[in-house]
Amino acid sequence: MWKGRFTAETADVVLRFSQSLDLDWRLAKCDIVGSIAHARMLGRVGLITEKESADLERGLRQVGQEIEAGDFTPRIDLEDVHMNIESRLTAILGPTGAKLHMGRSRNDQVATTLRLFLKETLVRIGRRLAELQETLLQLSARDEAVLAPGYTHLQQAQPISMGHYWLAHFQAFSRDARRLLFAIESLNECPLGSGALAGSTLPLDRFFTAEILGFPKPTENSLDTVGQRDYLLDIHGFCATFGIHTSRLAEDLILYSSQEFGWIRLPDDFCTGSSMMPQKKNPDVLELLRGRTGQFVGHLVDLLVNLKGLPSTYDRDLQEDKRGLWESLDLMEAVFSVLTPLLGKVEVVGERASAGFENGLLLATDVAEYLVLKGVPFRQAHEKVGKAVAWCIRENRSFSSLSAGEWKDLLPEAENDLPPLLDPRVSVSRRQTFGGTGFSQVASQRARGEGAVASFREALSSVPGSAIVL
Ligand code: ARG
Repeated sequence: MWKGRFTAETADVVLRFSQSLDLDWRLAKCDIVGSIAHARMLGRVGLITEKESADLERGLRQVGQEIEAGDFTPRIDLEDVHMNIESRLTAILGPTGAKLHMGRSRNDQVATTLRLFLKETLVRIGRRLAELQETLLQLSARDEAVLAPGYTHLQQAQPISMGHYWLAHFQAFSRDARRLLFAIESLNECPLGSGALAGSTLPLDRFFTAEILGFPKPTENSLDTVGQRDYLLDIHGFCATFGIHTSRLAEDLILYSSQEFGWIRLPDDFCTGSSMMPQKKNPDVLELLRGRTGQFVGHLVDLLVNLKGLPSTYDRDLQEDKRGLWESLDLMEAVFSVLTPLLGKVEVVGERASAGFENGLLLATDVAEYLVLKGVPFRQAHEKVGKAVAWCIRENRSFSSLSAGEWKDLLPEAENDLPPLLDPRVSVSRRQTFGGTGFSQVASQRARGEGAVASFREALSSVPGSAIVL
């Protein structure tokens, strides 16, 4: 493709080292779509005839069919997907094929192709994220009345509704949904027409190509366009944060399903056994989710490091941008393929979940807040209840076993209205602050969540796609 200036053929080792077919062959369809847009634009502005434009489109569609049918074996001496397709096109069309690349460089071509591919991929990933969110909403509705210990520092802290617990993870994934929409927005401009770096002397219509490819507008600055990969950083940022949320959820379930906690039951078909110990049921899927999601972080860091010292505009280092990206996007699909169905089958064993707080000491904060409502400053209330807790531990007594009289001896401010409050279910239902674990708060939080998922789905459906379909 550049033979004019050279006197020697590229060395074989260089061909093998520098080819990117292993990275970009999956972009073939989007590359053809981008080329059809370019060909239509060339015809429209009169750089080629309408017939040549139609021939180019027909030839490109034929190449697309050959690839689809598996009849196309790319050659590494043609370096990448772009030159393989162009070369085949020229073989089909002759001199007309050789006109396609006017006004274009692989630098704006690869950026356009990648953005087209990613837009479709991110919308698909978004739908799977919405399914995950919907599963958590269903768990929240199912388990709203189930009480479980809430932990801080992994020590029992206060009783919570399991409906509230599932919504906590739902919220994390909802933030990921917003990050995903931002990543789509961040790539939603068309690079085509930026050329190698500085635009073109030819009368290209960038607005036309942007529009038919489903981009709201062309990119602003040609130098920036060919050399920036911020939209990939945004995708990696989304993946990394999603991965961390997934990993923490997996870790919770691993812990809560262990014999020591024992109040989460994992589905048999998502667990594995031991080759030696017949009694074992291991949470391997969750462990692999926890283990594998670290790769999202690695691929983010890989791209950051790649970009950090690059001089402005295109440098060949950028070809490596796709390596970690594919790994992350494939991993994303793999995560959804197990996480959502596994979650859908997780059970909460209510009696075991609440067994841990039978002694009632988890309600110590409730007692302190009771004293606050009787006019005791919080710091004093905290100390008084702390002493009552110490007494119970010494005497081996539970809060729930204390009579109103015994409470009065421990806390002179306590009246007959205290013991009825010291029931975990009453405790949970009284936490009525906005976003708290009180049952009605959980229900309204879930209603808002349902609205959020509906608007997320709506936003995904309204992402404009390319008008050119193969
Ligand atoms: N295969 C290259 C990539 O993926 C295409 C752009 C090559 N541009 C160049 N000037 N060598 O980045």
